[in-house]
Amino acid sequence: MPNSLLIIEDEALLGQELTRHYRRAGWEVELARSLADARRRLEEQHLEPLVILSDMNLPDGNALDLMEQLKGRLPHCEWLFLTGYGSVQESVRALRLGAYEFLEKPCEMDRLDLVLASASRSALAQRRLIEQAELGHRRYSPEAYVGKSQAAQRVREMLARLTRVPFSAIVIGGETGTGKGLVARILHYGGKRAQNPLVELNCAALPRELLESQLFGHEAGAFTGAVGRHRGLIEQADGGTLFLDEIGEMPMDLQAKLLKAIEDRKFRRLGSEREISVDVQVLAASHRDLEAMVRDGEFRSDLYHRLSVFKLMLPPLREVLEDLEELVPLFVAEINAKAAKQIKIIPDAVWAALRAHDWPGNVRELHNVVERCVLFADGPLFPAQWLQLPGRSAMAPGQPAPISEADGLFIPLDGSMDLDDMDRYIIETTLNRHHGNVTAAARALGTTRETLRYRIRKYGLRETV
Ligand SMILES: Nc1ncnc2c1ncn2[C@@H]1O[C@H](COP(=O)(O)OP(=O)(O)OP(=O)(O)O)[C@@H](O)[C@H]1O
Ligand SMILES: [Mg+2]
Repeated sequence: MPNSLLIIEDEALLGQELTRHYRRAGWEVELARSLADARRRLEEQHLEPLVILSDMNLPDGNALDLMEQLKGRLPHCEWLFLTGYGSVQESVRALRLGAYEFLEKPCEMDRLDLVLASASRSALAQRRLIEQAELGHRRYSPEAYVGKSQAAQRVREMLARLTRVPFSAIVIGGETGTGKGLVARILHYGGKRAQNPLVELNCAALPRELLESQLFGHEAGAFTGAVGRHRGLIEQADGGTLFLDEIGEMPMDLQAKLLKAIEDRKFRRLGSEREISVDVQVLAASHRDLEAMVRDGEFRSDLYHRLSVFKLMLPPLREVLEDLEELVPLFVAEINAKAAKQIKIIPDAVWAALRAHDWPGNVRELHNVVERCVLFADGPLFPAQWLQLPGRSAMAPGQPAPISEADGLFIPLDGSMDLDDMDRYIIETTLNRHHGNVTAAARALGTTRETLRYRIRKYGLRETV
C-alpha cells in the first residue's frame, strides 16, 4: 500500500506543484483546498493519511483548529505545517499539539522532502506500534480464552482480576489441551510484566541435571561438560514471568531448591558463590492432580502451598460441551482465513457428532478435528465425513444422517441476493438437478406443478435443460 499524503493548500499553483512532485515520488496524494474540504475527506471518506502537509491559514480558518479537533482520531498521522508568515505563537501551538514540524514558506523542496520522509518514518513506526499493541491485546486478553459455559466465564473473570494485580505465583491445572499454555500467555502478556520476558520450561522434557542447570544456570566448569558460563532461565525471566510447565515432573530435591529461590527471591548459579537477586512471577502448570501428589508424598507440600496462592482449574471440554458453540466457529473462521476456505454452514449432524464425542485431547483435539474438516472441504458446508470421531457411532439411532451439499443448497445471507433472486436460484437449481423435470422438481420443493410452472414463467426459466 503506498503511503498517503493529504495536502491542504489554497494556493492553486503551489498545491498542484506539491501534488505532482509527491505523486512522482510514489505517494498517494489528496489535495484539499480548504479546511472544510479536508475535513470532508478525513471524516466522510475515512481517509487515513500517513502525513498531512498543511498551509496554516486557509480561507475558512486556521489549520491548527482542525488538527486539534482531529488529532485523537488520527493517532498515527504526522502533521507538517507550511506557513507564509511564521508567527511564534502559532509555531508554539503547533508543536504543543504534537505537530511534527513547522516550516516557513518559501521552503526548499529538498528540505521539505527530508522532513516529509522522516515524518512518514515516524508515522509508520507509530502505526506499527499501535497495530502490534492492538493485536497483542486482542490475542492475549482474557477474551482469548473462549467459551460460554459458567466454568469458562469464571476462568475469564479470574484472568481479568489476576492480570490487574502483582501476584507472585499461581498453579494452573487442567487435562492436556485444556488451554494451560494459552492461559499462561494471557497472564503474562495481559499483565503488567508484558514488556518483560516470558520464559518457559517444560519440566517433563529434561533429565534432572539438565533441568537444574537450565533453571539456575552455571559457571564455567561447574560440572563435567559445563563449558562456558550459562545464565539460567530464572535469571532470564527477571522482571517477567517464569512458566514452569508440567511442574509435577520436577524431582523433589529440585523442588526444594526452587522453593528457596522463590521465597528468598535470590539464587546461585551452579558452581558459584555469588547470590543473584531476581524478581519473577511463577506460573506452574500441571495436568496431574498436584494436591493428590502432595498427599501421596510425590510433590513437596511447602512448594505446593507457596505456588498455589491462586489456583486456576481449566475444565475438560466434555464437561463444558456448550463451549463448542463458540470454539467451533472461532476455529472455522481462523482456518478459513488461513487456508482461503469458505465454510459457512455447520450442519446439525456435525454438531450432534461433536457433542457426542468425549474429547480426551480437549480443545487441542477439537482444533485439530476442525482443521482437518475445513482443509478437506469443498464449498460452504462443514463436511461430516472428515470428523472421524469415535463418538459418532454412539449417536442415537434415528438421528438424521449427515446431509451433504448435494441434498441442500447454499444461499448467502449477506445481502448479495434479494428474496426474489433466492427464489429464482432455488427453483433453477432444483430444476437443473432434476434435469428440467417439473414434476420431480415440484416434489423436491414441496409445491404443486402449477405453482412451479407459474414461477418458471415469472422468472423466465426453461423447463428442460
Ligand atoms: N478456551 C479456549 N479458547 C480458545 N482457544 C483455546 C482454549 N483452550 C485451548 N485453546 C487452544 O487449544 C490449543 C491447546 O491449548 P494449550 O496448548 O494451551 O493446552 P495445554 O493445557 O497447555 O495442553 P498440554 O497439557 O498438552 O500442554 C491451543 O491452540 C490453545 O490456544
Ligand atoms: Mg501446554
